[in-house]
This record gives sequence, structure tokens and C-alpha cells, in this order.
Amino acid sequence: MSRRIVAAGNWKMNKTPAEARELIAELTPLVKSDEKDVIFCVPAIDIVPALEAADGTNIKIGAQNMYFEESGAYTGEISPQMLTDVGVEYVILGHSERRGYFHETNEDINRKALKAFEHGITPIICCGESLEQREQGITIDWIRQQIKVAFQNVSAEDASKAIVAYEPIWAIGTGKTATTEQAQEVCGAIRALIKELYGDSVAEEIRILYGGSVNAKTAPDLFAQPDIDGGLVGGASLKAEFGDIVKA
Ligand code: PGA
Repeated sequence: MSRRIVAAGNWKMNKTPAEARELIAELTPLVKSDEKDVIFCVPAIDIVPALEAADGTNIKIGAQNMYFEESGAYTGEISPQMLTDVGVEYVILGHSERRGYFHETNEDINRKALKAFEHGITPIICCGESLEQREQGITIDWIRQQIKVAFQNVSAEDASKAIVAYEPIWAIGTGKTATTEQAQEVCGAIRALIKELYGDSVAEEIRILYGGSVNAKTAPDLFAQPDIDGGLVGGASLKAEFGDIVKA
């Protein structure tokens, strides 16, 4: 089977609602595609205006985070139902910035992933090593641990629909993209782990993205790797360049 390529933009904490509408209007003609999934993961307050601006286009709107409870006294958090109510189908979980600045653990990410699946939201589950871990030679062990915990109690059916994003922390926002060999090695190891956990067909179906300073120049080679099914793009997703990345 052939997996559909994903071009996901991670806007991080950028763009006001008014700016979000403008950017989507600007990018809509540039990211048209019938054979790829184009997803803009926007700040929570931009979700509704972004959905309106993307209505009738091929752009899907995703969230950047979500809590693992249904509702209640969790000041500042957003529930899965709030997302599905407005039509959000994707959520980034466990981005390294959330792990780093907001102390999210593998266990939190597992709870969030289970909740997302329960509500029919596709999680984009992030993993990645620091430069120190890479230099210590523990990258693959670290990533396996992150993914194993994130997928605990996730059924095979749900796992096959998941999206995993491998994002080496040292490559995020630094302009230092991993080489295609480094990116393929880890994405291949993630697929091998999914095969160990769930068998061949889930490993064939799950989509694995690379993220970390992806740009129009590096995207074609990265996306051509056997185990890389697209990208999670930060900085370059806020510019017309994202259109070239989608074309890659
Ligand atoms: P970057 O961010 O493309 O700006 O490096 C990627 C990400 O953090 O998802």
C-alpha cells in the first residue's frame, strides 16, 4: 500500500487570528494538492478563524496540544471535545517544546494520545533526541522509549492511523536539518519498532514524518526516503515557501 504524504505546518506561538486568516488566504493557492494531506497546526485561539478561512480548501486545521481529561478544573487547558466540536481532526502531541518548557512526560503524551483516539482525533506524536543524546550514541534507544510509552494501550487499529513526527531537538529552529541518512535511520527504526509492537500491516500504514529545519531545498530528498512520509514544518510553514515544501 502507499501511504499518503503529510505536509504539516506547526505555527507554534505565531500569528494572531487576523494574521491567521491572512496567511491562510495567501497560502491556499500555493498548497493545493489532491494526493497529500496538508495540515496547519495553529494556536488555540486561531483554530476557529483558521477553520473558517480554510473552508472549501484542501487545508486541514490541527491543534498544537490538548488535555487528557474530558472537562473540569484544568485552568488553561483545552479538551478533546472542544476540538472535535469545531471540526479539528489532528493534534500535535509531545512536541519537544512542550516536553522542555512545560515538562510533559511520555506518560502524559500516552494519556493524551489515548484520549485523542477515543475522540477520533489523529495525534501527531512527536519524538526526538537532544544533541547530547546523539553524541552519546543513545538516539535510537531514547526514541524507542518515547514511542513505546506513547503507544502503551493504543490498539492496532488506532496505531495504524497515528502520525509520528521524528524531530531531533538540535535541528528545530536552528537551520541545521538532519542529513537524509540520519532522518531515514531514525524513521526506519521507528517503523521497525511499530512492526515489533503491532506487526507488518500497522507498520506499513502508520505515517512517519521528519521535522527540524525542513525547507524547500531539503524537503525533496527527505520526503523521498523509504520511511519518511512527509514533514512537520515550523518556521517555513509561515511563508510562501511552504507551497514548495508541499510540492516536494
Ligand atoms: P522548524 O520547527 O521547522 O522551525 O525547525 C519544526 C518543529 O518544531 O515542528
